[in-house]
Amino acid sequence: MKHVILDCDPGHDDALALFMAMGDPDIDLMEVTTVGGNQSLEKVTKNALSLIELVGGKVPVYSGAPTPLVKAPKWAGYIHGESGLDGVKLAPPKSEVAGTHAASQIVKTVMDSPDQYVTLITTAPLTNIALAALMEPKICSRVKEIVMMLGAVHTGNVTPVAEFNAYTDPEAAKVVFERKWPITMIGLDVTHQAICTKGVQKKLAEANPSLKEVLDGLINFFRESYKDEECFPDPPTHDPCAVAYALDPSVVKTVKCPVSVETKGDLTCGMTVADLRALAPKDCNTQVGLSLDVEKFWSMVEKDIANLRAGK
Ligand code: RIB
Ligand code: CA
Repeated sequence: MKHVILDCDPGHDDALALFMAMGDPDIDLMEVTTVGGNQSLEKVTKNALSLIELVGGKVPVYSGAPTPLVKAPKWAGYIHGESGLDGVKLAPPKSEVAGTHAASQIVKTVMDSPDQYVTLITTAPLTNIALAALMEPKICSRVKEIVMMLGAVHTGNVTPVAEFNAYTDPEAAKVVFERKWPITMIGLDVTHQAICTKGVQKKLAEANPSLKEVLDGLINFFRESYKDEECFPDPPTHDPCAVAYALDPSVVKTVKCPVSVETKGDLTCGMTVADLRALAPKDCNTQVGLSLDVEKFWSMVEKDIANLRAGK
């Protein structure tokens, strides 16, 4: 059983990651924390609450950092739309957030839980995680692992070398990577293999007819965004890759290597510099994803989606 805190910014692919986390019997989703990223904190938090209610989930949501540590916020409306989940009309949430200081909640949950109990899965900028580590450095030795959708070993998406979650808050990413905790970085080298083709989309909808309308709305909008903005014929579903790895590491090929985050370069700010040159130092606590077992990945997503029941 993985006892998980999911830090996210729903976001179309965050929604699929959240569905996976709620649908998988091997995940105890302890809480969801939200951070400004794909859209404003208010919008992504509302989306998280609505998505959880849609499938009858009972997971506490804590909203967190509204803006990056240093940089001015630049939401990804060009991909996720004005609401952060354009393409679907979710019922406004009936529930409220359980709290508004996600970083403090992450510290509390990790410190109140047994040692090596909590797995942090992040699918957004790392602002909440960095704040939590700065507030209470002890969490770095208590957390079982951090699995993050972030960064890239090779090509970026927001810039030639930087991926959106790292680019949005590079200072937070630097803080997180500079601490000694077990980090698995699932970057674009992996997630650009998680392409949601129309065939995959059909199988996901068939796996759960009660969610078909929402899944089709999400994926169709995401497809159009990626076609227009990044010339992808079908959308790469980044965030579920982090959940899949946390559940079964064999789904991603990884290599141990130091990762540093560029925060100063005019052309390279937000770049995750993975040093693959030589054998990783013995005390290296980071590994990066290089490739995805695509068939296994989609069968994991399909299985988890099938376990959910969407209400009206
Ligand atoms: O670069 C992809 C990442 O940025 C994903 O987490 C997506 O949801 C966006 O937040
Ligand atoms: Ca995200």
